[in-house]
Formats: sequence, C-alpha cells, structure tokens
Amino acid sequence: MNSTHANSNFPVLFTAEQIRQRVAELGRQIDADFAGQSVVLAGVLKGAAVFLSDLARAITVDCTFDFVSASSYGKAQRSTGAVKLIKDLDHPSEGKNIILVEDILDSGLTVAFLRKLLLQHRPRALKIAALLDKPSRRLEAIDADYLGFTIPNHFVVGYGMDFAERYRNLPDIRIMPPGCPE
Ligand code: IMP
Ligand code: MG
Repeated sequence: MNSTHANSNFPVLFTAEQIRQRVAELGRQIDADFAGQSVVLAGVLKGAAVFLSDLARAITVDCTFDFVSASSYGKAQRSTGAVKLIKDLDHPSEGKNIILVEDILDSGLTVAFLRKLLLQHRPRALKIAALLDKPSRRLEAIDADYLGFTIPNHFVVGYGMDFAERYRNLPDIRIMPPGCPE
C-alpha cells in the first residue's frame, strides 16, 4: 500500500488546498455581509458537516451551529420531488440570520424543501451556502448566495460527500468514475 486513502486513484476535481482557499473567500463574504451580527450555520446532515466545520472557522462573526436532515424519495431520476424531513433545527431561530449550509446543489429539491421549512422559523435573513453546484441537473429553481464551485455533471465524493456512505473523509473532492465501485 503506497496510498493514504483507499480511493486515491479517483481523479481529483478540487484539491484540499483549492477548497481551503475558496472556503476562506466564502468566509470573508459572510463576514462582510453580517458584520456586527450573529449567524446560525444550519448544516444539512451528513454531507455538509465537513464544509460547515471549515466554513465556521473561516468566519469571524459570532456564530452558532445547528443541523437539519432530509431525504428524498427515489432521488435518482424522479421529478416528483418528494422530500422527507428527518430532522428539523434544534433551536428556535425566529429573528436570527440563518445560513443553510449544503454540500452540493444537484436537482435543488432538497434545498428548496429545506428553504421553505426554515422560512417557517421566521428568520431575520435566510441565505444558502453550497460548496458545489451542478446546475445542469436542476429541477427546482434555487441558487446559492455563497457558492464554492460550479461543476459539470460528475458524481463526486470526498470532503463530506459520499457514495453509499463511503469516502466522506477524503480530504479533496474526487470524481467517481461511472460504474466504480460496482
Ligand atoms: P438534490 O436534492 O438533488 O439537490 O440533492 C442534493 C443532495 O444529493 C446532496 O446533498 C448530496 O447529498 C446528494 N448528491 C448530489 N450529487 C452528489 C454527488 O455528486 N456526490 C455525492 N452526493 C451528491
Ligand atoms: Mg446531502
């Protein structure tokens, strides 16, 4: 074994250093937008956990964490867009600045659903931070206020993102070749 990670043969899309630089820029944007205020970073479990932990350390405004979880039914090719809430925010967020933190905007169904849910908490402001965006797959019109990178229609893993719950701990973002693993 000469590799640190079991799947370091997947092609790299963004290195850990590229991600770090981009996350630092997003942090500065958030700092500027919310100077003198507090924000709630509301991460979407589980994929956004790694991004949230780095983003949180790239911002200097007062900040707390919360988490939500949702799952979609037959997400693969379904356009019906049924999304099920698994976990709402733990803390009341009325009047707060919420930043919904997601790993990737794909069809947009998950974030569109969570956005509606979070608006019911009557926040002062609701923004969306997404590390990646695959606009070619969009079914629901939704945009990130803070976006890391726009990518073509690849299936990616690493930096929190999984295939069947694996590869979340890869430090960079890699393209999973079609049909691999079986
Ligand atoms: P959406 O509702 O189709 O936008 O789904 C977004 C969710 O699908 C993300 O939170 C990810 O969990 C998952 N997802 C979409 N594309 C990828 C990918 O390329 N790799 C890993 N997970 C993905
Ligand atoms: Mg996710």
